[in-house]
Amino acid sequence: MSDAKRIATLPGDGIGPEITEVTKTVLDRLVGEGRLRFEDHVFGGASIDEHGIALTDATLAACRAADAVLLAAVGGPKWDTTDPDAPRPEQGLLGIRKELGLFANLRPVRAIDALIDASPLRPERIRGTDLLVVRELTGGIYFGEKTRTATTATDTCAYSTEEVERIARTAFRAATRKVTSVDKANVLETSRLWRETIVNVQATEFPDVVLEHLLVDNAAMQLVSNPSDFDVIVTENMFGDILSDEAAMITGSIGMLPSASLGNPDGPGLFEPVHGSAPDIAGQGIANPLAMFLSAALMLRHAFSWESEATALESAVDRALAGGLRTPDLGGSATTAEATEAVLSNL
Ligand code: NAD
Ligand code: IPM
Ligand code: MN
Repeated sequence: MSDAKRIATLPGDGIGPEITEVTKTVLDRLVGEGRLRFEDHVFGGASIDEHGIALTDATLAACRAADAVLLAAVGGPKWDTTDPDAPRPEQGLLGIRKELGLFANLRPVRAIDALIDASPLRPERIRGTDLLVVRELTGGIYFGEKTRTATTATDTCAYSTEEVERIARTAFRAATRKVTSVDKANVLETSRLWRETIVNVQATEFPDVVLEHLLVDNAAMQLVSNPSDFDVIVTENMFGDILSDEAAMITGSIGMLPSASLGNPDGPGLFEPVHGSAPDIAGQGIANPLAMFLSAALMLRHAFSWESEATALESAVDRALAGGLRTPDLGGSATTAEATEAVLSNL
């Protein structure tokens, strides 16, 4: 079918290829064979092995030409090194986010009823939690200048008002109750610029949205003590990285959290689970594919505006969990294949 959506799939490393394959199966079954055209591209550690770099021009060009990019995970012990000159899989990830202009990373976190008992947090604390981490993705300490000598190293954290303004707008638009801006304004100059800019955007463009500020250390604490109080959390690149892994435990496992990286209206969005390549369980067929399925649902919604298909996939995941589906990370024994079957049978 010539009008099929073109999806650049980047299986990457570790459990990446395992969860990518089953996600394609679920998507094809959901929307009907032929409506999506998947094309795998080498990425991350696999690309270092083949081409010496984590993101080749060919993979980047293929992603640019696609309607959406679906990425699993990269990295692993094979490529872990402290040598500053050695290529790293994670460079591919940072490179593709930057090159595609994806400054807004959306990480929804929902306490799913069926999984309340899978979280280490008390049910009465997490019940009703439905929050969104809006993580700035192409700036901050991840992308500032780095230096290294034999005995010293620096990473620079830099933000411009323009970078803060655009992520602030994403957050305010997404809010239903309020926006919590998380920073370290008591110490960092970048955080003081961040806070001042967020305040200005709220006052001039979103006066009806409630805005509050939390210092990041306090936010980390509130996230486990009072998670249902949050609506939208907006924060800089590194704080968002750390807080979203913490927030994953509200769902019971990092294997549950999807994400969408957006920001460039003229190019594809990138959809990927929040978790990594899970080298400790790679190759065993027991990875939880649900974060990847839910990332695919975000792709259907945000990249193609296929809202009913997106909702259908999300409800199938919910129903499979309600039916007792539990992979080992959620305290059960279902394999990746069994988890896939459970979702397919609920589509
Ligand atoms: P990780 O998220 O890969 O794993 C942390 C723990 O969670 C492990 O015990 C793992 O088994 C478990 N886990 C993660 N995803 C799971 C899933 N779907 N099902 C079941 N269990 C799951 O984090 P890490 O171990 O710190 O990092 C491993 C590698 O992944 C590193 O090289 C890191 O840089 C990379 N990483 C990549 C991405 C990405 O590609 N987006 C994200 C995070 C980490
Ligand atoms: C994530 C990951 C990446 C990040 C790493 C692998 C570079 O942890 O997507 O959350 O820090 O952004
Ligand atoms: Mn992370």
